Amino acid sequence: MAVKDEIQKLKREKNAVILAHYYVKDEVQDIADDIGDSFYLSKKAAQTDADIIVFCGVSFMGESAKILNPEKKVLMPDATADCAMAHMVTVQKIREVKEAYDDLAVVCYINSTAEIKTVSDVCVTSSNAVKIVKMLPNQNIFFIPDGNLGCYVAEQVPEKNVILNDGYCPIHAAMTKESVRQAKQAHPNAALLVHPECTKDLLEEADHIGSTSEIIQYAKESALNEFLIGTEIGVFYELKKQNPEKKFYALTDEQICWDMKKVTLEKVAEVLKTEQNEVLISEEVRQKAMRPLERMLELAK
Ligand code: 13P
Ligand code: SF4
Repeated sequence: MAVKDEIQKLKREKNAVILAHYYVKDEVQDIADDIGDSFYLSKKAAQTDADIIVFCGVSFMGESAKILNPEKKVLMPDATADCAMAHMVTVQKIREVKEAYDDLAVVCYINSTAEIKTVSDVCVTSSNAVKIVKMLPNQNIFFIPDGNLGCYVAEQVPEKNVILNDGYCPIHAAMTKESVRQAKQAHPNAALLVHPECTKDLLEEADHIGSTSEIIQYAKESALNEFLIGTEIGVFYELKKQNPEKKFYALTDEQICWDMKKVTLEKVAEVLKTEQNEVLISEEVRQKAMRPLERMLELAK
């Protein structure tokens, strides 16, 4: 049986749902029930009535799905698919900042471990970070782990004192102003759309800054026909699907999150068959990590 047919059969038999981030391979996006950015997928994970969630993404995404759905089985097609940035802050550092500031909220980008979420006040994603930070009653904000998204939020919410952490996404942070200069030279009519995980000097050049879904939406609604894309290349699949007549160019040939690319059709079929690679989180950690995630879902409504 073809692997795609096997996945569909197992999915029906086991009442499973497949969620996929825009950064996974095209063929994996094709078999997903829902594809989206981190915020959309966390909402979907909180709402599903399936018995099994197969999460085609990296570990913090599967963990968030499990935290929100303790009674469901969450399976990762590749248990080693991880986000480097999720580990770029420590509980110790958060404790130190908490001690140093009164009236502090620890605002945790969803790209973080379950352990880090247990000591955070609210989670955010790239599509709701500005909105949520604006809504918080606290004057001081410790934004973790992404220093670049934190810097973007600080600029958008100047009334708050945003304390930055030094985490970063190795893929987004590697796109440079020089790569933009060269891409603009090659495609002078193209608008530059970038993810807020990129560095400040890149964001300053952008025509639009947004999450993966927001980039896709902007390209669709824009009257322009050419776009330079400052995020992971997985989004090109949806961009081209929705806009076959428009042209999309990468800034470099290194905009690839290799951890996202670890997810393959064969691995999806295998975990559906064996139910291996289950996400397991202790009830104590889950309860504590759930609070900031639920607060995000509430505030972002
Ligand atoms: P989105 O919030 O746009 O899905 O981004 C997730 C991510 O990992 C970006 O690198
Ligand atoms: Fe993490 Fe960057 Fe990969 Fe997104 S692209 S999952 S932030 S390493």
